[in-house]
Amino acid sequence: MSRESILALLRAHEGTFVSGEEISGGLSRTAVWKAVDALRRDGYVIEARTGLGYRLVSSPDALTELEIRRFLGQTAVVGRELRCFDEIDSTNTYAKQIALSGAADGTVVVANCQTAGRGRMDRSFQSPRDKGVYLSVLLRPELPPDRLLSVTALAGVAVCRTVERVCGVCPGLKWPNDPVLGKKKLCGILTELALEGETGRVQSLVLGIGINVLQTRKDFPPEVAEMATSLAMELGRPVSRPALAAALIQELDQLYADLKAGDLSAYLSAYRRDCVNLGRTVQLIGPEGRETVTAVDIDQDFGLVVRDADGAEKTVRSGEVSVRGMYGYVE
Ligand code: BTN
Repeated sequence: MSRESILALLRAHEGTFVSGEEISGGLSRTAVWKAVDALRRDGYVIEARTGLGYRLVSSPDALTELEIRRFLGQTAVVGRELRCFDEIDSTNTYAKQIALSGAADGTVVVANCQTAGRGRMDRSFQSPRDKGVYLSVLLRPELPPDRLLSVTALAGVAVCRTVERVCGVCPGLKWPNDPVLGKKKLCGILTELALEGETGRVQSLVLGIGINVLQTRKDFPPEVAEMATSLAMELGRPVSRPALAAALIQELDQLYADLKAGDLSAYLSAYRRDCVNLGRTVQLIGPEGRETVTAVDIDQDFGLVVRDADGAEKTVRSGEVSVRGMYGYVE
């Protein structure tokens, strides 16, 4: 019997003992003991009692394939292949590398810790061990690049849906793609696209998502501590990281199907409903300095429609400017 099947058997009898004979399936006692020992080293708490056998007491809160698949079920494309790391430099960097060597459409890369997590505009993304969900998905959409411009905003909606399903609270979205809770940033999204120079064909798209799950205030570096939060900080209780990762993979699988079908109206209405900037005064921070405007709408391509003091409207696109509240990250 493999580690996986022993674990499945213990889970099927959750809370009760399973005899060594039943577990062994013909294996020697030593082989069973070794498999149980390996599971314990992976963080499973398994009680052994003479005459009774083994009982699964608890499972680790770890982003391993065993734990994520426990919650995942079948998906169409995203997550059919999962590559799980305890530690990696950056899941996005790794996903871009395996894209070059032919990795499959929908491959998901997950890590418990990133030593060189990357954010937008060449910033770093702190990814402390066992605190967040650090995940990248490699997509190979056969779509023109202009159909993919909104993918980063769509991913923001997918994160909000994930958090709502798993935690029962729906984050807001700070334009263009930052899920926020309690007016603070809960998650970062970094989308990287590789195009063929001659034809403009999309070779690969890597969507990287980092959700703050179990961090406390001291886990954030001082420069972001004021504007960052985690699910545990907002909810006052821990959240299962593998359950959250699995739900995110399911939402990304749905998003990919909807993107290919061009069926994005539900995302646009969810975005408009959840965008925390709409109706508020915001500062646009760009190469030419700061401008104070009112955010009035989200257009069909997820651009932010703003109105200045003279009533003139314009639409700003992701990448052109960053948006800040008047007094803080959001408001
Ligand atoms: C940002 O807010 O600036 C974007 C942060 C994106 C972080 C995620 S974590 C998983 C993936 N791997 C990375 O190195 N970055 C993204």
